[in-house]
Amino acid sequence: MIRPLVIAVDGPAASGKGTIAAGLARVYGLPQLDTGLLYRAVGVAVLAKGGRLDDEGLAAQVAKTLDLTLLDIPAHRTRAAGEAASQVAVHPAVRLALLEAQQAFARQPTGAVIDGRDIGTVIAPNAIAKLFVTASPEVRAQRRWKQLSGQGETVSLAEVLEDIRIRDARDSARDSAPLTRADDAILLDTSRMTIDEAADAARRIVEAARIRSNG
Ligand code: DC
Repeated sequence: MIRPLVIAVDGPAASGKGTIAAGLARVYGLPQLDTGLLYRAVGVAVLAKGGRLDDEGLAAQVAKTLDLTLLDIPAHRTRAAGEAASQVAVHPAVRLALLEAQQAFARQPTGAVIDGRDIGTVIAPNAIAKLFVTASPEVRAQRRWKQLSGQGETVSLAEVLEDIRIRDARDSARDSAPLTRADDAILLDTSRMTIDEAADAARRIVEAARIRSNG
């Protein structure tokens, strides 16, 4: 039996994984879930309630009642939202509250493309294709700075680089589902690639994985 094509795309902040995941979803006609938006939505909602990001109980409550149809909004794409997301993402109760919705997305008979930090390790360990997308901190900072400036945020490149270093350290060091490459994930370093080159490389990785999975 042919298994549904599930593609897991993990990697650090601003590595290009979102763009790559969106490109793969288009090519293969698959639904896509950007799981970073789940954690961003939780962080933003906690702050909107006047709560603290280290309040695990409150953040978990927010995560349980999250409106999944309202994820992709500009307020979730800001610098502050990214930082808040990384802070609420350390709480095991928050991760647990978001687990079932993500696993249900991965179980769709259509297949799916899912991007985040723990997709290949926790959410969809049986995914047919797993990519770990990375780039140097300097390249990622440059990309994120361009994105944030384009959205009208006033921030220096040095501040964005510092954000990225702090976020990498927090996301990788947490106990619960840390950012880490699954043993069977293929590493894709996009530091010296254009968007089109990275998209092509990602498609080749998925094609090879599909051939392997069909035996
Ligand atoms: O991919 P992103 O920058 O939108 O993610 C924001 C934060 O959310 C990231 O710093 C850590 C957290 N996150 C996570 O812990 N697990 C995921 N699967 C996705 C994001």
